[in-house]
Amino acid sequence: MTDRDKTFFITTPIYYPSADLHIGHAYTTVAADAIARFQRLQGRRVFFLTGTDEHGQKIERTARKAGKDPQAFVDEVVAGIRRLWERLDISNDDFIRTTEPRHERAVQALFQRLYDSGDIYKADYEGWYCTPCESFWLERQLVTGNCPDCGRPVERVREESYFFRLSRYADRLLEHIDAHPDFIQPPSRRNEMVSFIKSGLDDLSVSRTTFAWGVPVPFDKRHIVYVWFDALINYITAAGYPDGAGLSALWPADVHLVGKEIVRFHSVIWPIMLFAAGLEIPRQVFGHGWLVLGGAKISKSRGNIIDPHVLMDRYGVDAVRYFLLREIPFGADGHYTEDALVARLNADLANDLGNLVYRTLNMVERFCGGRVPAPGDAAGCDGGLPDLAARAVREAGAAMGRLELSAAIESLWRLVARSNKFIDEMAPWALAKAGDRARLGSVLYNLCECLRALAIALSPIMPRTAQKMWEQVGLDGRVEERRWDDAAQWGLLPVGAATRRGAPLFPRVDLEAEAEAAAEARVAAPAGAAAPAAPDKTTAVGGADAVDTVSIEEFGRLELRVAEVKAAERVAGADRLLRLQLDLGGETRQVVAGIAAHYDPAALVGRRVVVVANLKPAVIRGQESRGMVLAAVDGDRVSLLGPDQPVALGSKVR
Ligand code: MSP
Repeated sequence: MTDRDKTFFITTPIYYPSADLHIGHAYTTVAADAIARFQRLQGRRVFFLTGTDEHGQKIERTARKAGKDPQAFVDEVVAGIRRLWERLDISNDDFIRTTEPRHERAVQALFQRLYDSGDIYKADYEGWYCTPCESFWLERQLVTGNCPDCGRPVERVREESYFFRLSRYADRLLEHIDAHPDFIQPPSRRNEMVSFIKSGLDDLSVSRTTFAWGVPVPFDKRHIVYVWFDALINYITAAGYPDGAGLSALWPADVHLVGKEIVRFHSVIWPIMLFAAGLEIPRQVFGHGWLVLGGAKISKSRGNIIDPHVLMDRYGVDAVRYFLLREIPFGADGHYTEDALVARLNADLANDLGNLVYRTLNMVERFCGGRVPAPGDAAGCDGGLPDLAARAVREAGAAMGRLELSAAIESLWRLVARSNKFIDEMAPWALAKAGDRARLGSVLYNLCECLRALAIALSPIMPRTAQKMWEQVGLDGRVEERRWDDAAQWGLLPVGAATRRGAPLFPRVDLEAEAEAAAEARVAAPAGAAAPAAPDKTTAVGGADAVDTVSIEEFGRLELRVAEVKAAERVAGADRLLRLQLDLGGETRQVVAGIAAHYDPAALVGRRVVVVANLKPAVIRGQESRGMVLAAVDGDRVSLLGPDQPVALGSKVR
């Protein structure tokens, strides 16, 4: 069997259903989806696996805290996770849950096998455990007494335990890594893992006795299998383990796509488990970087999460997918900001791609009766597009093969940019006016061909948009059923195909106008008078147990300060707005407040108020506003808050 005949097997981590998933989980899953879709276009059979990691102490505790039985608890969260993937157009071929009987059987079979071969033995364990990370640590590994991975407190564990002889296979693993430079990617992660292994591997505790939510050890039911040992096995459960037939067709996995914090489990513990079981090890573990917000990894426990549903409601599925894959070079960490998303949406999607599609099809409609014209043989009317398209598609394909998703998109955007420029250079409207049908036909045919090529090549990234483009340029069927090579081949678009121009694919988002509308709405609805003047952007919500409350840390992120009004005047053309100049003790800034109906500007001068000093700046009615003054609101009555003692300007309000 050649490599191309083997089913391409790609996985995401199986996520903990301890709470709803956030944009960080979506990042991995969308990336895996794009790679899976790309491989399908390459004509490969693909098996794309995702799922949920449902056992362990953390889930058990979270469920109990919610007053639920663990199974009922995870069932609910998992239903939400499935809905999220459907909405994000994730094309997984299987969804594995570690509470399924097929998986419990696989875990028990592997555990038994390793026990029988002497790779698992019983001893006493004494050490530390980080429940959020579900990781064992030795005293010497702790950092100032806390978990070296996440920095949170660890718990003392002293119990009888089964151990797995990791140490036995360390040399074999190092040899494998050396002989297969692609096994751990990107290279920085490989180097980290090599030093980790060289620093010495201790045998791993692989069972627990102090709680019950897990797979029982088959020959000693007082023990349950350690959750990571259980979870990693999911990849072969889905391939049919312990039955050999399915396994041989699918296994080994081609890529385990994971976040960088769990590369260690996938590239050290997992391969050694497989060595011990006499199975092949995965071809590649790719550890991508983190989405970072406000200087910290986006994570449930830090409470700085972004809900992908909110982003999709607002910007659409494909804009979210595009942003995730385009913005951050795959492998590196990247800062998440909603402004960056909007900037990409407006520039790349609305301006570049959306305009190209709209302008091209509009002209085909106006000048060619909505039928793809014949290219004719007019010289000099292809603008080099056929060569450029072939090159862009080739480069994008090579980049996708290396999992350089952002670079792949960049290559395709060179074709988008050149096509837009070609329209400007050739001015088809002038050719139409001059009655030069031959040249006009050539120009528009070539542009339509670009749209066809782009529809195929973009389908792994933005499946819905690609399908729309495919249909709009007059083609039938599903673009995802085409071949990647069709995108590189010129002239496959049939002359005479009936184009179907639709609405612009990506409407522009104007955050400034929305900020204005939000400030107006705040004023119009007094109950919201103390709400932020910034647009109602994505809310960062806390963990599962923080639905209606904020933690003290979250509150602490607000910078509230005492300020004095130095000047106040009405904003022209806005009945309800006042422009205030505030002195925050050494710093003066302008704030626009919706209080004109309640305060005479002159009477405000000299008053001390409380201002939210770190509110994101907004432009309201053309006026910059850097902060918000706090007011109590009682029906129609609005009352500004201020200190009742003389305190220094700039004093913190807590
Ligand atoms: N259950 C384990 C994985 C077991 S795999 C055999 C687990 N689950 S998790 O729910 O915590 O998911 C972690 C994974 O989610 C990361 O490895 C990464 O793929 C993704 N991400 C979570 N937060 C992320 C960011 N802020 N940024 C990028 N990816 C993130 O660990």
